[in-house]
Amino acid sequence: MTHETYLGKRIFLTGHTGFKGAWMLQVLRGLGAEVMGYALAPEHPNDLYCQINGDRLCQSIIADLSEREKLTKAILDFHPDFIFHLAAQALVRRSYRLPVATFAANVMGTAHVLDAMRELGKPCVGVMITTDKVYENPEQGEAFSETDKLGGYDPYSASKAAAEIVIESYRRSFFNPEKFSDHQKAIASLRAGNVIGGGDFSEDRLIPDIVRALAKNEPVVLRNPNSVRPWQHVLEPVFAYLLLGQKMAEDGIRYSTSFNIGPERADERSVAQVTNTFYEAYGRQAAFEVKPESGLHEAGLLMLDNGKIKRELSWSPKLHAEEAIRWTAEWYADGRDAFQKCAEQIDRYQSC
Ligand SMILES: NC(=O)c1ccc[n+]([C@@H]2O[C@H](COP(=O)([O-])OP(=O)(O)OC[C@H]3O[C@@H](n4cnc5c(N)ncnc54)[C@H](O)[C@@H]3O)[C@@H](O)[C@H]2O)c1
Repeated sequence: MTHETYLGKRIFLTGHTGFKGAWMLQVLRGLGAEVMGYALAPEHPNDLYCQINGDRLCQSIIADLSEREKLTKAILDFHPDFIFHLAAQALVRRSYRLPVATFAANVMGTAHVLDAMRELGKPCVGVMITTDKVYENPEQGEAFSETDKLGGYDPYSASKAAAEIVIESYRRSFFNPEKFSDHQKAIASLRAGNVIGGGDFSEDRLIPDIVRALAKNEPVVLRNPNSVRPWQHVLEPVFAYLLLGQKMAEDGIRYSTSFNIGPERADERSVAQVTNTFYEAYGRQAAFEVKPESGLHEAGLLMLDNGKIKRELSWSPKLHAEEAIRWTAEWYADGRDAFQKCAEQIDRYQSC
């Protein structure tokens, strides 16, 4: 990626108070971008956004994606060159408790962002973040490619698949690449695999669950130790989002499409493997209990084909699974300031 792409550019970043958003914010500021964030307030005082003192890195608007007028005004007033739309109700198990709120945030929230972009009277790149869970998953062991059928069992997955359909509809109806010279808008969607990294304190995610168990000196409870996922370090999708944004700014016609971002197939790991490697890297004996949960369906097998992004963007993952897990364990084991730890890993990643 060319670092100058974002220097002095105006970036509208939704979800800046979340796990990935906080990393993205720190990276963007390091690249010299001016950032306006739009999201709900951090959920916990130790969230990464608070730890890196995110309020001093951006103009922060704390509001809901459902507040359409506020969101539209924020985008139109800020006049962004790029929009990175990360905000979402991003938790599968929470989506079973709050299905309507999940659909509202993830489907209508995406439509609100895209519609504000439609009103924007300047060229703009929109990078819309969805997930690997957008595919209809019969769990037959195939790795999904971008043309595979969309679907979704749980409300989170279904809401993100629906967001993909909204994005595609806006791309065809209002930001059609064939009429690019008229509207000057490029939109793409990115479907990332399971992300790990320092500073995630979300509920019901593997690494935060392990970190909480370690703090209490208790074994971590695993629901599905044999589930296999395309795990990757948070800096992989963050830099892939930025690379795609750059490519879209250079050629808004060619790159207005969807891409998977995932590790190599050889780096897919089960929940139990990730857990064991994390404990080892953290310097503690692995301790987990298995308590299968019969009630809520979660996919046992999910694999992504990353061929398209490798071919078209010359992107490839920089960290193998064990490195990604080690970097994550090192972050949590290191008692220093979070901003400094993130800055060091960002530098290290860029020099890989
Ligand atoms: N973490 C992963 O493993 C992973 C994997 C694939 C895709 N994703 C996607 O990446 C994006 C970021 O994920 P994350 O892990 O940082 O999630 P997160 O839960 O840590 O952060 C979510 C962000 O969205 C904001 N948000 C949620 N509901 C909102 C609403 N109604 N209005 C305004 N803001 C709202 C939150 O305030 C927060 O800033 C999401 O779109 C998620 O679906 C995450």
